Amino acid sequence: MNVLLIGSGGREHALAWKLSRSPLLGQLFIWPGNPGTASLGENIPLPVDDHRAVSDLIHQKGIGMVICGPEAPLADGLMDFLADRHPDLALIGPGRSGARLESSKEFAKEFMLRHGIPTARYRSFGSREAEEAISFARSLGLPAVIKADGLAAGKGVVIAQTREETETEIRAMLEGRFGQASERLVIEEFLSGIEFSVFVLTNGDQYILLPEAKDYKRIGEGDTGPNTGGMGSVSPVPFADAALMDKVRDRIIEPTLRGLKQDGIPYRGFIFFGLIRVQGDPFVIEYNCRMGDPETESVMIRLESDLLQHCLDCHQNELNPGSVRVSSSHAATICLVSGGYPGDFEKGKKIEALPQTQPEEHIFFSGVSSKDGQLVTSGGRVFAVSCLGQDQLAALDQANRLADLIQFEGKYFRRDIGFDLK
Ligand code: AMP
Ligand code: GLY
Repeated sequence: MNVLLIGSGGREHALAWKLSRSPLLGQLFIWPGNPGTASLGENIPLPVDDHRAVSDLIHQKGIGMVICGPEAPLADGLMDFLADRHPDLALIGPGRSGARLESSKEFAKEFMLRHGIPTARYRSFGSREAEEAISFARSLGLPAVIKADGLAAGKGVVIAQTREETETEIRAMLEGRFGQASERLVIEEFLSGIEFSVFVLTNGDQYILLPEAKDYKRIGEGDTGPNTGGMGSVSPVPFADAALMDKVRDRIIEPTLRGLKQDGIPYRGFIFFGLIRVQGDPFVIEYNCRMGDPETESVMIRLESDLLQHCLDCHQNELNPGSVRVSSSHAATICLVSGGYPGDFEKGKKIEALPQTQPEEHIFFSGVSSKDGQLVTSGGRVFAVSCLGQDQLAALDQANRLADLIQFEGKYFRRDIGFDLK
């Protein structure tokens, strides 16, 4: 089967790597891809918001399946557009209605409330309700959790530590700091606990559980400084034991799938549950309608069963939880980022020759492009280095060693990924 994978980051490089190992794969196309995915398939260097061009390519190349990496094309209705034009095409990624689990925090909170799914207490507010929002935030106490309703590239959440900051942030957001995305706000109770990420592939009825992971969002060591898209990940997560995962299934995953059905929302694709464990119980921090980055890099190198087969099973309504095989090894991913990220950073830095890797070591490309045959940096997150080891320490040591060997001006990475979990 010919497959079109949409996206251009480390997540897509890892998905492309995993798909390329499937005996079921014919040709792999990546739209737009990056120089890493170019070695695994054919990159299509066109803007993804051109839905008609995607549809034409599906005809031209005899594509049987489209897998969408990032959330934006999903929120934009790409899958609805393709489903209308290509009735037999396998689509891995929800339509616009399912993508609202991620594209509107207010929608997601209302959904959880309606279906009894554990999450932080909240209220939502519109642009004329700054005073009400401030007084509600005060009633919840500090720190205050203020979230832009819409997609804001991972920057729409502020955890305000003081009353002044709370007030300034609420006003700035409602006055349009993130444009349309912050015309409405969700203000919610601060949950104190430890976060982890759970992933399923579902057709709306059946689901399979993929390996869980833990992401490190802050830029600085010791979880300090501003939030980023993610600075590293580990899988498995030692505290996600059978008892906790049973609660996740019973209280969160299955009620979510039942809720989607009850609300008449078709869903075929990945759901990423951003969870927090509070005194032994899981709560939902957020839903995403896609896999995580840099969690996917750790998840894919641990997944032993065939991802393409799972996606086909999803399309054919034959998802079988027993078919998922996961390595007992530990995965660690460390992101190498441009100096200055997540604030301003320079692009176009020359990347020195990459080190040779062993089979259990991977250098996934995130913000990398090719200029006159030379690899250069082109994003905040530049590489995700992922290693598999016998235990977490071995995987982390190896990933740190590989991260040291990659050279570009301004390179920064956290050396403490995963060490809090030992
Ligand atoms: P989100 O984009 O909703 O995942 O939020 C980004 C980050 O903010 C999360 O990964 C958490 O670290 C933090 N966060 C969000 N909501 C809460 C909450 N209710 N309590 C504590 N931390 C939160
Ligand atoms: N690493 C978090 C995310 O992909 O949203």
